Amino acid sequence: VLVVRHRMRNSGKWAKAMDILRDFEDKCGTPIAKLRQVADAMTVEMQAGLASDGGSKLKMLISYVDNLPTGDETGIFYALDLGGTNFRVLRVKLGGVENVKKEFQEVSIPPNLMTGKCEDLFDFIAGELAKFVATEDEDMQSPPGTQRELGFTFSFPVKQSSIAGGTLVRWTKGFNIEDAVGQDVVEELTKAMERIGLDMRVSALVNDTVGTLAGGRYSNPDVIAAVILGTGTNAAYVERANAIPKWQGLLPKSGEMVINMEWGNFQSSHLPLTDYDESLDSDSLNPGEQIYEKMISGMYLGEVVRRVLLRMAEEAEFFGDTVPSKLQKPFILRTPDMSAMHHDSTPDLKVVATKLKDILEISNTSLKMRKAIVELCEIVATRGARLSAAGILGILKKTGRDVSKEGEENQKSVIAMDGGLFEHYTKFRNAMQNTMNELLGEETSRNIIIELSNDGSGLGAALLAASHSQYLEYIES
Ligand code: GLC
Repeated sequence: VLVVRHRMRNSGKWAKAMDILRDFEDKCGTPIAKLRQVADAMTVEMQAGLASDGGSKLKMLISYVDNLPTGDETGIFYALDLGGTNFRVLRVKLGGVENVKKEFQEVSIPPNLMTGKCEDLFDFIAGELAKFVATEDEDMQSPPGTQRELGFTFSFPVKQSSIAGGTLVRWTKGFNIEDAVGQDVVEELTKAMERIGLDMRVSALVNDTVGTLAGGRYSNPDVIAAVILGTGTNAAYVERANAIPKWQGLLPKSGEMVINMEWGNFQSSHLPLTDYDESLDSDSLNPGEQIYEKMISGMYLGEVVRRVLLRMAEEAEFFGDTVPSKLQKPFILRTPDMSAMHHDSTPDLKVVATKLKDILEISNTSLKMRKAIVELCEIVATRGARLSAAGILGILKKTGRDVSKEGEENQKSVIAMDGGLFEHYTKFRNAMQNTMNELLGEETSRNIIIELSNDGSGLGAALLAASHSQYLEYIES
């Protein structure tokens, strides 16, 4: 009798846990009709953001990039890429598309600098850059008498005042350095370089999406947009300059302007938001902001999974009669670990068991429980992937590339893509690609190509530094 009662009690708890999971799944639903509404809302917000500053949650920032690389850029340039968990320094020798020599170094940012003082962060960056400059060999030196030039990829919302200057609107992702908000980040970097006697000039300041677009265009003239799916998510695309009512400047000769959408901040009643997303948001460093990003990007996917598991543990004793204490720790479950569990192809889900043990100190799980956890990863990843596909459809609609036009049946539109989530989370990438195909239909899908552009943003920043070099007239004459 006791055994039977014990089983019944357990099956009641199991049913409760499954109710929590099913309820979450229902609320995360992204049927095609809903994705179309998201795409349409994206298009509407794009329009509003282009019309006036503050006109939309989408900032639609003007990048001052009105000319994309052609392949003719030459010279030696530096690039610096700040915006994820790592930052990179890069030295590039340009001499035609087939002839690019790259050297780089990746450094992780001490977490205390991400929420400290502005000066400390820039001193650290300038210091690492100086160390890298010291490793220049003869073949990679700027001509005697010239100053080194740098393309600065700064992957946060910046209101640009020119191609080589702009103020930080606010921090996103895990950064929160109050005294930097409103400052010109190029000035801050320049001052830090001066403090340590590093002679270098910032020739271009770009968002990673803009860098990726430039890097992609360098080798493929059909690139029209770039999307980052990494720690954060964002997109940039080429807009017609006369379709930007808020642009006060002269119309550029090219007639085009690259726009940094900052789509991570997109918000719409059509987004399938759950209680878990809402509490994640209110506990975050930037409540009320970056809602789309918090449903899609690598910084948050694992955290959403953790929150659902925590509720299953608290309300349905999913992991036994005590709630595992590690599971209560925000951000302990990282997206790469979630991805490893999601891709577990061992028959008894050994990887899931190991991750649970190593990260959350949970052992003795049954196969049935581990299967439920894989399912949870699937729900969270699929929602993110499908929502990002809807965002891309929004851009294609805005630029009139969502249907094949007569006479342009073979016109390709390439989207340069970068970011660890896209690169390493295979199931996420596949779900996104499948959703794109589903949304566009067979015929149009053939002309929309998503292309991995690995570290395109570093190269792109160097290329934009080249096309805005202070020695350009000198070189051209
Ligand atoms: C965040 C930043 C944005 C960046 C994106 C990808 O959304 O605000 O500027 O492009 O992350 O790194």
